Amino acid sequence: MYSSLPRPTIFAHRGACAHAPENTLASFQLALQQNAPAIELDAKLSVDGEVVVIHDQTVDRTTDGTGAVRKMPLAALRELDAGSKFDSKYKGEKIPTLTEVFETVGGKLFINVEITNYASPFDALPFKVAGLVKYHGLQDKVMFSSFLGRSLRRAHRIVPTVPLGLLASPGIKGGFARSFLTRQTPYQAIHPEVSDVTPALIDRFHSSNRRVHTYTVNDPQIMRQLFNWGIDGIFTDDPAFALKILTESISSRS
Ligand code: G3P
Ligand code: MG
Repeated sequence: MYSSLPRPTIFAHRGACAHAPENTLASFQLALQQNAPAIELDAKLSVDGEVVVIHDQTVDRTTDGTGAVRKMPLAALRELDAGSKFDSKYKGEKIPTLTEVFETVGGKLFINVEITNYASPFDALPFKVAGLVKYHGLQDKVMFSSFLGRSLRRAHRIVPTVPLGLLASPGIKGGFARSFLTRQTPYQAIHPEVSDVTPALIDRFHSSNRRVHTYTVNDPQIMRQLFNWGIDGIFTDDPAFALKILTESISSRS
C-alpha cells in the first residue's frame, strides 16, 4: 500500500483533530468519513506495558486527569475522559489502545504510527508496536515514524517490510536527520517540519528514492506551494480542507 499511496498523501494528523478530539477513535473515524487516505497517531506505553494512543507525555492537556502516561496503568488511563476538553459532545471519548485503533480503522486507511517513547527511549514500545502490526497483519497498511532512529530500527527488526519515516525537528536541531548522512540508512521517508521544506530538499530526497512528508500544514497558501513543489505528503489537522485545496490545485494546473 505504501508504494501505491497517492502523491501527495493527506495524513490526518492525530485524526481529523481540527474537528474532533485528537488521537481518539472519533477523530480517526471522522478522518475516514472525510475520505482521508491516511491518519497519523502517537503511540506510547502505559506503566503496565499496554500501547496507548496519546500525544503528550502527560494526560493533563487532553483529558480530565493529571499525570505522566508512562506512570499510569491502562485501567487508570481508560477511566479518563479524552473528549470533553475538546467539546462536551465528545464526553466519554477514551484514550484508545493501538489495538482498538487497528480493529476500528486498520486496513481501511493507511496508518502512520509515530513511536513516541521520547521520555523513555529504551522501553519496549518499538517491539510492542511492531508486534501488534504483525498480529493484526497490517504490515502493508502502516508505516512507522519517530524522531528516534533507534526506535525505528528496533521496530524494523520485527517487521522489516514496514516503511520507516524519520522525523526531523525544526531548524538546526533537525539538521542531522535532514542531512546526507541519513542517505544510507533504511528510512523510506523523511518527515521534516514544514518551514524546513524547500524544492531543493524535496529533490534531494527524491534522488535517493525517499518520500517527503511534512508536518503540520493547515495554511492553504502553504499547502498550494507544497503541492506545486511535488511534496509526497502533508500532515494536517483538517484533512477535508486539505483534500479540497488539493483538488483545486490539480484542476488549476489542467
Ligand atoms: O508526525 C508528524 C507530527 O505528528 C510530529 O509531531 O508533535 O505532532 O507528534 P507531533
Ligand atoms: Mg505525531
